Amino acid sequence: MRSLPQDLPRHVAIIMDGNGRWAQKRGWPRLKGHEQGAHSVQECLNACLEVGVEYLTLYAFSSENWKRPVIEVKGLMFLLEQYLGSKIEEMKKNGIRFSAIGRLEGLPKSVQERLHKAMAATADNKQLTLTLALNYGSRHEIVDALKAIADQVVLGKLDPDSINEELISASLYTAGMPDPDLLIRTSGEYRISNFLLWQLSYAEMTIIPKLWPDFKKQDLLDALENYKNRKRRFGAVNA
Ligand code: IPE
Ligand code: IPE
Ligand code: MG
Repeated sequence: MRSLPQDLPRHVAIIMDGNGRWAQKRGWPRLKGHEQGAHSVQECLNACLEVGVEYLTLYAFSSENWKRPVIEVKGLMFLLEQYLGSKIEEMKKNGIRFSAIGRLEGLPKSVQERLHKAMAATADNKQLTLTLALNYGSRHEIVDALKAIADQVVLGKLDPDSINEELISASLYTAGMPDPDLLIRTSGEYRISNFLLWQLSYAEMTIIPKLWPDFKKQDLLDALENYKNRKRRFGAVNA
């Protein structure tokens, strides 16, 4: 069902924030909040599938999140492994193509294996591309893109004069994906935290005070409804 065909964002990106506070408010360990956060991912996926959003990109672990206590990092990696292990069949059934961006080689081997398995198993699906940003930092991404471009120049395969916005976009981890139209951040924080700095240039932003584990399908549908009323000008004057 595509109920919002006109003003529907093709690509929704979400900074899923507030898991720790959600748990701490209840006197529970932070990991309990991460565990609960997986249900909100499912709610979002269901909403996106229902209305026909083509790309959903979720910030799940940043390049800065390694600064957290080892027990939290280990717990997050375990939850991720569990999630990937249990969701492949469902993703296949729903036409979800799974993808991951970030310095994946820096993740534990067991997580890398699960990621590659999920990507291979869902590679031909067309309904929705679900991308998890893992060990992701936008500045790392830009550094990696610049290195790849510089290599081409050094090898004499690329003329520096032909470096343009399209080439830079195509050199990022998100190559081939449209830029996000809508960025949602939960937990009421007004910051980007090193997420998709290049790609979010003209994204519409919605900050939601709810903590991520409280985020439900209706919250995403509300954000889509709100997006409909935005006037995107891309620097031009209103028509
Ligand atoms: C977001 O929730 C999930 C990750 C960063 C992995 P947090 O863990 O940042 O939760 P708060 O912001 O500390 O409440
Ligand atoms: C951003 O949240 C990263 C993810 C949601 C994975 P953080 O909680 O790490 O960001 P800061 O520290 O509040 O900026
Ligand atoms: Mg946080």
